[in-house]
Amino acid sequence: MSRSRRLAIFTIVILAVALSACSGSGPQTALNPEGPVARTIDNLWELVFIIAAAVFVIVEAALIYTLIRFRARKNDDTEPVQLHGNTRLEILWTIIPVVILASIGYPVIKGIFEVRAIAQGADVLQVQVTGHQWWWEFEYVDLKDDTGRTLVTANELVIPEDTEVNLTMTSADVIHSFWIPTLAGKRDVVPGRISNLTLIADNPTPPDEPHPGQCAEFCGLSHADMRFKVHVRTQADFDAWVDEQLTPAEIPTEGAAALGYETFNATCVACHHVTVAGASGPEDIGPVRTTEVDGVTFTSSLAPNLTHFGSRTTFGGGTFENNADHLAQWLANPAGIKPMRPELNDIQTGRILGMPNFNLSSDEITNLIAMLEGWE
Ligand code: CUA
Repeated sequence: MSRSRRLAIFTIVILAVALSACSGSGPQTALNPEGPVARTIDNLWELVFIIAAAVFVIVEAALIYTLIRFRARKNDDTEPVQLHGNTRLEILWTIIPVVILASIGYPVIKGIFEVRAIAQGADVLQVQVTGHQWWWEFEYVDLKDDTGRTLVTANELVIPEDTEVNLTMTSADVIHSFWIPTLAGKRDVVPGRISNLTLIADNPTPPDEPHPGQCAEFCGLSHADMRFKVHVRTQADFDAWVDEQLTPAEIPTEGAAALGYETFNATCVACHHVTVAGASGPEDIGPVRTTEVDGVTFTSSLAPNLTHFGSRTTFGGGTFENNADHLAQWLANPAGIKPMRPELNDIQTGRILGMPNFNLSSDEITNLIAMLEGWE
């Protein structure tokens, strides 16, 4: 390869790397914190970046200066002055790194304790999170209807603005990691153990621009599609949402939705859970299990709770926009649009690896969509 060609390739690679930094701000970034917890982390990152950049510039400048100033001259083969054993210099370059590391270490350790603190008090919103292959379940343990049923939702967390939220998390299967880059750091979600994370969001989010979240620990086939959304509401909007969510779903009595409900009862309820308005009050359909982890009881379904499915903006682990087209594709062959292994499902042990293809007819699909969209 010619020299100019190598130079061209080298330049293109360097430019590509440099220009990729200008790609505009993706929404899933930790560099635009939207709450105090994420801001603590971002501030630490900035501090470390500034110090590291200063060290880099100073060291490189000294290196380049030395290369030029002290390079070997023609007809001069005298040995340069040797400096080893210079106590004053050795003390100096021991002390400088100590000062640098201490000025990074102190705020970082302080920040770790701040970020890890578990939010406590009567004003804290308590949410229990269960990670599943490959979706998230949220139970608002203190928000109950008159019958004591808690608010349960999936893949979309709704929180009030400017409020401390304590997430108590565990996993139903393998290790996941809960991460909302704009609101907090990552926290592993481990089966048989509990981990906590504090969330605080500054401002309400527009309905179509929730904070994107992502599982950040490789957990199998659909790890990349184990996403979720965090919607932030004003306190009044949040209260209204809670009232809505605690209302049982109406059993559809006519039209396509009623036919969809028949199919639903014959197939979907093997895994999905719904609270419907029965003749004498709320009734639960579909399995719900409870597990005790470190003294905390987690209620969890085998598949996402669908009681207010129509109110969610996404489905399939926060992956697909919730609309009739996507639902039709999903119901026709779920594993065709999101990688899953439903052939390995075992309902007895509760090990579920995705929704099977029930070979639904196009009428059944249309009817199910009518039913699901009605459950807002
Ligand atoms: Cu769950 Cu990756």
